[in-house]
Amino acid sequence: LPDENDEFWLFGYGSLIWKPPPHFDRRIPGWVTGYVRRFWQASEDHRGTPEAPGRVVTLIDRSFWEQLTDHHDTAPDKVWGVAYRIIPDRVAEVKEYLDIREINGYTIHYTPFHPAADVDPSLLPHDSRGEKGPVKTLVYIGTPDNEQFVGPQDPQELAEHIYRSEGPSGLNRDYLWGLEKALDSLSPESGDEHVTDLSNRVRTIAAREGGGIQADKQI
Ligand code: BEZ
Repeated sequence: LPDENDEFWLFGYGSLIWKPPPHFDRRIPGWVTGYVRRFWQASEDHRGTPEAPGRVVTLIDRSFWEQLTDHHDTAPDKVWGVAYRIIPDRVAEVKEYLDIREINGYTIHYTPFHPAADVDPSLLPHDSRGEKGPVKTLVYIGTPDNEQFVGPQDPQELAEHIYRSEGPSGLNRDYLWGLEKALDSLSPESGDEHVTDLSNRVRTIAAREGGGIQADKQI
């Protein structure tokens, strides 16, 4: 029998929120602290190409973020997302799959995950049930030293960039709007001002451009 202490949990704060990993049996909304979510990672493999990288989210260490000049003066203490438990018998397989799938600048880190207040404690690992967490989770982070890290960008330029970008997984704007929608569905407090602000800017651009991909293909 798999050892309860060997449970493998994965925290998703980007596309994993609405595109689950293979072989999970539990999906729990909640949050982590100590980070700020930003569209500061270039994507050459999913929402862009090597010639025209798109922009996807990464987590910025809060102490580093505080030294930077960002468009937003403040950021929420909590980064909301979801934690997935991988079916114990499939852990080795999933770890292997994730290792190859999630590269493109992201590295593996571990962070304590706090389940949302209304989560049923019986879904948590045994040692997290009493206080309802935290749960040790694996998280992929594009740290500032990775080649795809972009750093602070003018929000309007970033919105224009996202509007124009597209990769094998689809339009970059659909990733942005998908994230906005997925966050809205987690909890009344899971919104992220950076994501909402960018989503609104890209909607304005789409309305101006007629919403289609054709218009920007001609640029
Ligand atoms: C995420 O959703 O947490 C994620 C997905 C792919 C790469 C990095 C993070």
